[in-house]
Amino acid sequence: MSDLVGVENRDGISLVTIDNPPVNALSLGVPEGLAVALDQIEKDSSIRAAVLMGAGRTFVAGADIREFGKIKPGSQRCAGHLALFYRVESCAKPIVAAIHGTAFGGGLELAMSAHYRVAVADAQLGQPEVKLGLIPGAGGTQRLPRLAGLAKAVEMCAQGNPIKATEAHQLGIIDRIVEGDLLAGAIAFAKEVSGKPAPKTRERNEELGNAAENAPIFASARQNAQRKQRGLMAPLAAIDAIEAATRMRFEPGCEEEQRLFLQCLFSEQSKALIHVFFGEREVAKIPDVPKETPTIPVNSVGVVGAGTMGGGIAMVFANAGIPVLLKEADQAALDRGLRTIKNNYEISVSRGRFTRAFVDQRMKLIRPTLSFEEFGGVDMIVEAVFEGMALKKEVFAELDRVCKPGAILASNTSSLSIDEIAKATSRPHLVIGTHFFSPANVMRLVEIVRGAATSKEAIATCMSLTKRLGKIGVLVGNCFGFVGNRMFGPYRREAQFLVEEGADIEAVDKAMYEFGMAMGPLATGDLAGLDVGWRIRKENPQLFKEASRKAFIEDRLCELGRFGQKTGAGWYKYDDKRQAASDAEVSALISTWSTKAGIPQRMIAGEEIVERLIYTLVNEGARILEEGYALRAVDIDIIYLNGYGFPSYRGGPMWYADRVGLRQVLQRIREFEQRFGNWWKPAPLLVRLAGQGQTFSELAAKQTVAA
Ligand code: 3HC
Ligand code: NAI
Repeated sequence: MSDLVGVENRDGISLVTIDNPPVNALSLGVPEGLAVALDQIEKDSSIRAAVLMGAGRTFVAGADIREFGKIKPGSQRCAGHLALFYRVESCAKPIVAAIHGTAFGGGLELAMSAHYRVAVADAQLGQPEVKLGLIPGAGGTQRLPRLAGLAKAVEMCAQGNPIKATEAHQLGIIDRIVEGDLLAGAIAFAKEVSGKPAPKTRERNEELGNAAENAPIFASARQNAQRKQRGLMAPLAAIDAIEAATRMRFEPGCEEEQRLFLQCLFSEQSKALIHVFFGEREVAKIPDVPKETPTIPVNSVGVVGAGTMGGGIAMVFANAGIPVLLKEADQAALDRGLRTIKNNYEISVSRGRFTRAFVDQRMKLIRPTLSFEEFGGVDMIVEAVFEGMALKKEVFAELDRVCKPGAILASNTSSLSIDEIAKATSRPHLVIGTHFFSPANVMRLVEIVRGAATSKEAIATCMSLTKRLGKIGVLVGNCFGFVGNRMFGPYRREAQFLVEEGADIEAVDKAMYEFGMAMGPLATGDLAGLDVGWRIRKENPQLFKEASRKAFIEDRLCELGRFGQKTGAGWYKYDDKRQAASDAEVSALISTWSTKAGIPQRMIAGEEIVERLIYTLVNEGARILEEGYALRAVDIDIIYLNGYGFPSYRGGPMWYADRVGLRQVLQRIREFEQRFGNWWKPAPLLVRLAGQGQTFSELAAKQTVAA
């Protein structure tokens, strides 16, 4: 018997327990242990039924994702799960799956092959494989529609979101919700059904519908997937596999599922998404801030500034149930800020995202004020006033004066030095950057910026707080633009260079959209406001000195008052609903300006646009890594995926470069350096790794980020 699966006889009921912490994944040893347990159940005449459950905090959270990388084409490993679950279902004695925690992926597939399922009310069930670029590969697409009905199965497998056990009960996936002790309830249930014929999910066809009923379900699911999961192949494959369940008998349906599963498993998309899955967990690990580091309890916060960011940040805290004191400079700004918050909540209610009661409660947690005096009681403050060092220092000096000694003082600055801001206080160890992204109540990313004096406790507190807020925190060093914006600068500059050389504005945006970016770089500029960068360039000329070539178009557009969406015109022109249209006037101006500047005009292919824009990100990312402002390449990837609309199925810029091959990336960068000048000087780390045939992913994590 494998020590990952235990079997004991409880008064004629066999209790089979999977014990493979932390999440009871179906790692090597678990299926083998289950097979032995089945042998015993079948052979032992004193056994009348069985209960199958998970030890510790959960049922089974799925196949072991770490093993996927080891599967080679032709391997029988996944088909092995399928065959095992077929055997579970074929057992003549009833098997009851007892579910707590999560029954995800292979875990739900295992539970559906049992003859009955009982669960505690707060358990969750799901087929999240699409989030890993996969589809269920052990019968999930064939059994789930037989239990839950076609439409729900399509939704669960194509979108990957879990459902609560109570909903699963209503749908017929769960047979009974157990109140109180799960094991006792499951054994009682097993006794009730022992001696009765064991029903097999695979033999139930009544929920599978007919071709006429099913066609619109599949059509709308495919349309939805193409729109909301643009570029991803797994959701469409999941729908195809479920369609097979409606057209074929169970066994050939499973074969079709297996074919589609393997196609997904060996795809670049799945490799990238698995990298993202582990990356999201990796970024929480900071070698010199171990998980035992004490944290400062945060039960109330202050937010300074109720503008675009401050208002959103206040909502984020309120949504997590944390009371917020929201401070503005004057009554008019405070009223405006609160109105925007209310409007945003109204939109969420009208879209069904939040209930009215939830929103009313959250609004009550946000207490407006015009004075700093009440800040003495809060545990942490996030400052989100205008971007300017003098103002930030003034605010921090004031916060230092009024806040209690242990309170954390965080800044949402997107470019200013945390160390410089900290100098205005007597507690630099409690000063830190919490760089939320816009809109703060929507975007998942928070860059946690470590200053030279920032304490480990402050870092640990902010990292765990971001998780509590439903965000993903990534620790970064205190360099100009931190990680995300430092890379985004060259990316947007290169987009301008392309346009100066003759590429159409729309062609640049289209190429990047087709690569998978949420928006093209020029449309993004219009959305964020072209004046923001214009102001930074004017205030920091020292940052733009050394290079041979300066991008000039955005500055010219700003001089014309074209700041982007907010002024109705930027790279594009906008109607009053902010719908973009191309602007022939801008194209003509750009062509005149560029010709005057002596820049030869040419047609530029989409491939060159993508290479120049992505490799400029990669080159700057490599510099950041070498200088130590990010701990690992994957930290940069997670920042780009969650803050900049980089397509998840490409794994992030550094992962993408690894997959293209660093030699090839370097070769192109060298060609660009020859053709376009010294902005393209290759990063020394890239040169070294390419020379050694290594990847960014293979680099060891830094102990901590550079301050
Ligand atoms: N395989 C391997 N490791 C896994 C895993 C899995 N299926 N699920 C979680 N882990 C690991 C995590 O990497 C993490 O490791 P770490 O501590 O070294 O960083 C640890 O388990 C704990 O995970 P979380 O930090 O995510 O813990 P939470 O409590 O926040 O969440 C969870 C638990 C909801 C189960 C979440 O981990 C999760 O969603 N896991 C993935 C579930 C999934 O995608 N299952 C489908 C797998 S594919 C499949 O089953 C194919 C089948 O059809 C054949
Ligand atoms: P904003 O201009 O929308 O809001 C700033 C607010 O601060 C204004 O409402 C102003 O009245 C208020 N304010 C000024 N002085 C104050 C004081 N002494 N006390 C209280 N309130 C005061 O600016 P936005 O865009 O919200 O930016 C805030 C910060 O967030 C800046 O540091 C910016 O760099 C950063 N940031 C902005 C992002 C964006 O996309 N807008 C993204 C990420 C960071």
